[in-house]
Amino acid sequence: MSAVDNIEVPLVVAANRLPVMRSQSGWTASPGGLVRALMPLLRETGGTWVGWSGEADHDEEPFDYDGVRLEPIALSSSEVQNYYEGFSNDTLWPLYHDALRDSTYNFLHWEAYEAVNRRFADTLADITPEGAIVWVHDYHLQLVPRMLREKRQDVQLGFFFHIPFPPTELFMRLPWRTEIAAGLAACDLVGFQRSINAANFVSVCEELLGERPHVGSFPISIDVAELEAVAAGRATRQLSNRYRTRLGEPEVVLLGVDRLDYTKGISQRLRAYQSLLADATLDTERCVMVQVATPTREGVEHYQNERHEIEQLVGEINGVHGRLGYPALHYLYQSLPLDVLVALYRTGDVMLVTPLRDGMNLVAKEYVTTRLDNDGVLVLSEFAGAADELTDAVLVNPHDEKALRDAIVSAVEMHRYERRERMQRLREVVRGSDVQGWAERFLADLTGSHSLDVDE
Ligand code: F6P
Repeated sequence: MSAVDNIEVPLVVAANRLPVMRSQSGWTASPGGLVRALMPLLRETGGTWVGWSGEADHDEEPFDYDGVRLEPIALSSSEVQNYYEGFSNDTLWPLYHDALRDSTYNFLHWEAYEAVNRRFADTLADITPEGAIVWVHDYHLQLVPRMLREKRQDVQLGFFFHIPFPPTELFMRLPWRTEIAAGLAACDLVGFQRSINAANFVSVCEELLGERPHVGSFPISIDVAELEAVAAGRATRQLSNRYRTRLGEPEVVLLGVDRLDYTKGISQRLRAYQSLLADATLDTERCVMVQVATPTREGVEHYQNERHEIEQLVGEINGVHGRLGYPALHYLYQSLPLDVLVALYRTGDVMLVTPLRDGMNLVAKEYVTTRLDNDGVLVLSEFAGAADELTDAVLVNPHDEKALRDAIVSAVEMHRYERRERMQRLREVVRGSDVQGWAERFLADLTGSHSLDVDE
């Protein structure tokens, strides 16, 4: 039975971004499991996706894509700066990720955040059919539920956080903490990646609002069938073989694939690799590393600084440890298409997923899913949501350089039998909970929890 069988009313999704990107040939679906999980639900319930096109100063009319109504929200370039880069990604993002960087607290950014959230809520209030389900996603839109609830008591209202929700001590730093907690508490259900995030939110609501919201943990996943199909393709296997040849047929390929974000721990990981090369624990005759860093939020200073730090390290590592024609570290600051990524996953003998804090981390789940040969070792940070489920990975505290070095060495040296056993179990875990199941569980809890306001 699919999630759709349980839903008898239209589903309306609101997220910062629309599920499409503009390319030379027109609109194309954005990559990622979320889009692939939600589009069929929207199509089959006659639903709508409300979001920003990703371009500033573009006022688009609503349009249909792949059988789904898309409702663009226009953002001016100053709103992109103040709502998206400012409040969302320079105030909330660092604060919600363990305050790994200082947040800016700027009233102009807050005003833009409120105004954009209001625009989303007003649009939702206008377009949502009577009694429909509205599912709001992520930290950009935390004020939307309350704003929408004021206008529409008939809708079933859910919210899902893709990123962590911080402990009370950190959340309390926010000058607008009460408005944000109240914004979210207007939901029928607030979902989180991990139960610790849900517990943090409950504490915040009890302290600031004196109320206990309905919450749950729903760890997000990937489209397992799609990833397995790409991984099984002949072209992917051939591409993976070509990559190994191009890398010089090393015994061990270490791999990192991340958005270039300071939360991902890329510089800590590179430093650990550098120190393993420096004391000859690892040898470039035997090992090579590939680090893919996808460009992201380039307008935010913390991201510019992180990029400089990483690129400085890449230069140092290759300058000292590379040989002519054989860099010790291959670094790509690029967005790669899915087939190339999957071929790389199949080439990576040791996958390093070592964020300092991460809501879930789907790269870890993607890597495991594409290892149809049951080989490869996943080194995974304890601070990624995925660590709750992927307990057969080599779990590590990435803040501890010695632990990170030890984890890399134990992954490189792991016996084939142990690799196989761990990978089989990891694959079973991910196969048992894909992104369709995630949407189904969230919506089942939401619709079961809702009580309509009969006084209306
Ligand atoms: O993980 C949170 C998230 O906002 C995702 O929803 C998104 O895919 C990713 O970060 C990239 O963020 P942005 O939309 O800022 O490019």
